[in-house]
Amino acid sequence: MRISVAPVPQEFTDDDADTGVVVVDVFRASTTIAAALAGGARFVLPVADVEQAMRLAEPYAENEVLLGGERECRRIDGFHLGNSPREYTRETVAGKVVIFTTTNGTQALAAAEDAGAVFVGSFVNFSAVVEAVAGFDAVTILCAGNNGRLSLEDFACAGGLVGRLAKRTSQLDDAAMAARAAYKDLKEDLHRSLMSTEHAHRLADLGFRADLEFALKVDSIPVVPRLHDGRIEPPENRK
Ligand code: MLT
Repeated sequence: MRISVAPVPQEFTDDDADTGVVVVDVFRASTTIAAALAGGARFVLPVADVEQAMRLAEPYAENEVLLGGERECRRIDGFHLGNSPREYTRETVAGKVVIFTTTNGTQALAAAEDAGAVFVGSFVNFSAVVEAVAGFDAVTILCAGNNGRLSLEDFACAGGLVGRLAKRTSQLDDAAMAARAAYKDLKEDLHRSLMSTEHAHRLADLGFRADLEFALKVDSIPVVPRLHDGRIEPPENRK
């Protein structure tokens, strides 16, 4: 297996149809998408901007659709939900279409949309994602980062995935080796380290500390969201 890591979306170039791509935005878009699907949302439509989100909601009946996402980490005016995974409960999202836009996560998904197989990964669905991509000859982990800068929580999650996927014969690019080394270095005290990243501090200051705890619960949501034809669904919907 060839394994590469794009530490930020600008470094993602792989559009090989045989590559499995995992888009990682630990705080919080990937975690929230996993929560929405686990809560029974019909599908999540990731979109890059707010106007497009509002337009896409128009054809749906009011009780069929939810607008979700953030700008500056806060719920967008006129939207039903923000980007807190804790809002996406079964009571709120079951049976609904979620139209979703965030600052970095949905932009990273847009960068990957032409790849052959695109999954959404985070710590909450870590092992399920490993299993989903283990059979690919090539895997790229695309970190959402923060406005073009590396986010340690995404890079560390990527490194953990590399560590689980890599066999003795695997070929790793430099970023995959660096991510794996970073994860190894942090893993003894992963929770404390990732609670002190730049984005974690920002979210905690805004009152979202519980979202950080939610996002760092490894394997708590064993669903594997998959992007196909612009929609994110659990793979079982596509059989
Ligand atoms: C993003 O997509 O930029 C993040 O999920 C921001 C956030 O934590 O709300």
